[in-house]
Amino acid sequence: MFLYNFPTGKFWSKCEGYTKITFHILKKKALNTNDFLIDKSKEIDNYHNTNHILRNQNLCTVNRLNSYVIYLISLIKNIDFLVTTLHISKEKMALPNNIGDETNEVLAAQAHIANHVFNYINSMSLKCAIQLGIPDIIHNHGRAMTQSDLVNALPINKSKGHDCIYRLMRILIHAGFFTQGEEGYLLTPTSRLLLKNEPLSLAPFVQAQLDPVLMDPWHSLGEWFANEDSTPFATAHGKPLFEYAGDEQRLNNLFNEAMGCDARLIMSVLIKNGKGVFEGLKSLVDVGGGIGTVAKAISNAFPELKCSVFDLPHVVEGLEGGKNLTYIAGDMFKFVPSADAILLKWILHDWSDKDCVKILKKCKEAIPSKENGGKVIVIDIVIDNQKRDNKSFETQLFSDVLMMVHVSGKERNEQEWAKLFSNAGFSDYKISPILGLRSVIEVYP
Ligand SMILES: C[S@@+](CC[C@H](N)C(=O)[O-])C[C@H]1O[C@@H](n2cnc3c(N)ncnc32)[C@H](O)[C@@H]1O
Repeated sequence: MFLYNFPTGKFWSKCEGYTKITFHILKKKALNTNDFLIDKSKEIDNYHNTNHILRNQNLCTVNRLNSYVIYLISLIKNIDFLVTTLHISKEKMALPNNIGDETNEVLAAQAHIANHVFNYINSMSLKCAIQLGIPDIIHNHGRAMTQSDLVNALPINKSKGHDCIYRLMRILIHAGFFTQGEEGYLLTPTSRLLLKNEPLSLAPFVQAQLDPVLMDPWHSLGEWFANEDSTPFATAHGKPLFEYAGDEQRLNNLFNEAMGCDARLIMSVLIKNGKGVFEGLKSLVDVGGGIGTVAKAISNAFPELKCSVFDLPHVVEGLEGGKNLTYIAGDMFKFVPSADAILLKWILHDWSDKDCVKILKKCKEAIPSKENGGKVIVIDIVIDNQKRDNKSFETQLFSDVLMMVHVSGKERNEQEWAKLFSNAGFSDYKISPILGLRSVIEVYP
């Protein structure tokens, strides 16, 4: 469902002089359309008053300061009302009246907003391609695949085939997932990473991240800012993510598979390019190690290294270790098993600074001194404040907001990491930016 709320000239001039405006948009009833109607607009003097009203009406709010807005949102299932609270400065309000000289700027701004609003179409088209098995079908074909061959091979209603699959493929080609030559469609290095049987496949990661259970909390983000819940995930589902995963086997499996596929890829790179991180260690505990994908990779590469996977009971229950691999159930806030090194991959970004210091202190108690080879190995994002690569920087920021929505965590820059380590009593650290968006940080007691 989409909501189209385009500000017209008439609309803007009507609004001139208002500093704060609320649009009440009521669902269009009994019509065979998903559009929404603007029912009324009214001035609200006091922002808190506005939020109070919105909370009482149990409505979803979206606030934008000093902006003129085209707000298009995909509404899912249970949101019957959407109220957009706009705060518009007089200066910005005047803009459309001066449109003459500013036309290009305004149109560029409109296009920029539309592009951002529709960004989710990239994600959803990708999810659909994986659901339909398009990368595997093209791969199994063994050569470039024509449009007709692809449509015939797909498990779809053929009446939707030619036109709609062509359009789906066109946007995915634009996004770099496929190429199209004279002979037909081909995979790119990116879509090769989405093949189901590819050892380093990231298909489970895409499926989990775009599952409705992990997408729904985004619709609660505005509401969460005004309530007392720990996360938008808790607002949407009534409990925190890890508790939900403990209760819902489907999400637990989906989440663990997603973590596992990331772990396989990252560890293959780390063992190839950063072997030194593990050299000299006799024992290692992977805290929050999920189903053990990371620890298995380390124990295979270093058969003399004793590895343990430590995670919550619902994650490690029933899992069997091997020669140099064991599973331990527990809560890292209460206890961390002893070893030469503690590995924390994608753990600290799940937690607030205060909780990270608690976890790090437990880790410090579990390892020997620096002189005796003790260290904590953190694998996480170090936000690149220099923005050396704009796309990577943006993805790091995506991940930061994701951590706010799903868990009570955040992504950190080097200064923030240094502060955490120092507050937990560590003396030194070394960052190796060898894992793409993420780094390996060796932290010494
Ligand atoms: C983002 S996942 C990372 C999994 C794994 N380290 C990886 O990167 O593939 C976070 C993990 O922390 C675990 N976890 C959450 N709270 C925990 C706790 N209190 N004690 C131990 N593990 C916990 C979760 O069950 C989950 O497996």
